[in-house]
Amino acid sequence: MTTTTFFAALLGAASLVSAAPRPATAFIRPEAGVSNGFKLVANVIGAPKALSVPVQGAFLGGAHVGAGLSIAALNLTSPSPIFYQNGTAEAIADGTSNILTDGGTPPFPEGLRVLLNATAPSNPVEAQINAGIGTPGVTITKPVAGPGILKYESASFIACDETLAYYGPSWHFAIVKAFEGTAAVVPDNCVLIELVPQCATLPDLPEGSLSSHEYANEVACYEQL
Ligand SMILES: *[C@@H]1O[C@H](CO)[C@@H](O)[C@H](O)[C@H]1NC(C)=O
Ligand SMILES: *[C@@H]1O[C@H](CO)[C@@H](O)[C@H](O)[C@H]1NC(C)=O
Ligand SMILES: *[C@@H]1O[C@H](CO)[C@@H](O)[C@H](O)[C@H]1NC(C)=O
Repeated sequence: MTTTTFFAALLGAASLVSAAPRPATAFIRPEAGVSNGFKLVANVIGAPKALSVPVQGAFLGGAHVGAGLSIAALNLTSPSPIFYQNGTAEAIADGTSNILTDGGTPPFPEGLRVLLNATAPSNPVEAQINAGIGTPGVTITKPVAGPGILKYESASFIACDETLAYYGPSWHFAIVKAFEGTAAVVPDNCVLIELVPQCATLPDLPEGSLSSHEYANEVACYEQL
């Protein structure tokens, strides 16, 4: 079964049951793998919508908008970054670890940054993948069985069909945003998603890298079918 048919099967299954948000583990085969490298794959929860950009099964990556700055966006086709959950055993236990990927030559750490609007937390804010450490406390959950999901405090995630000023009005992106709230406040151009880790091999770092995989931890992910 290819990834495409796998996610098509997920969509088919999703349409048979209620539209209420539910954990991805209800759809993704229950036996989880473990890996210290992973891609993040969007699973639409709640009612699917017809957007002009693919969301279901698309991979989290960054849309470059400046030096070391990227807006988090989903893409079904472009090669996606491989992430790792970085931190000491204590940081993992405390939930203060961070999620990184490696960019550039020589590779340097780029962190997944999840922001909530401090004054109006129900206003969605774009996630980012920027040079640096990202947001401590952005973690992959560790369920009793099955793959985890991306978590930050009580944030929900949405993917929104939008343009970015940097790319002009014709290129539509599936921008990933975080907010505090429920499906009831999802804007019309957005769908509620969760981000599920797909096991991937963390590449070896070349000599002279500014990144380090010394503190990359195993996460519960699903194996690509
Ligand atoms: C990765 O985790 C280690 C151990 O907690 C920490 O010392 C290091 O600064 C982290 N790296 C980044 C880029 O956040
Ligand atoms: C937070 O929401 C307020 C009120 O809508 C808005 O003015 C402000 O720009 C938002 N801040 C961020 C970081 O998005
Ligand atoms: C995905 O990436 C490819 C290659 O960069 C690009 O052509 C395409 O427009 C992107 N799709 C979206 C939805 O951003």
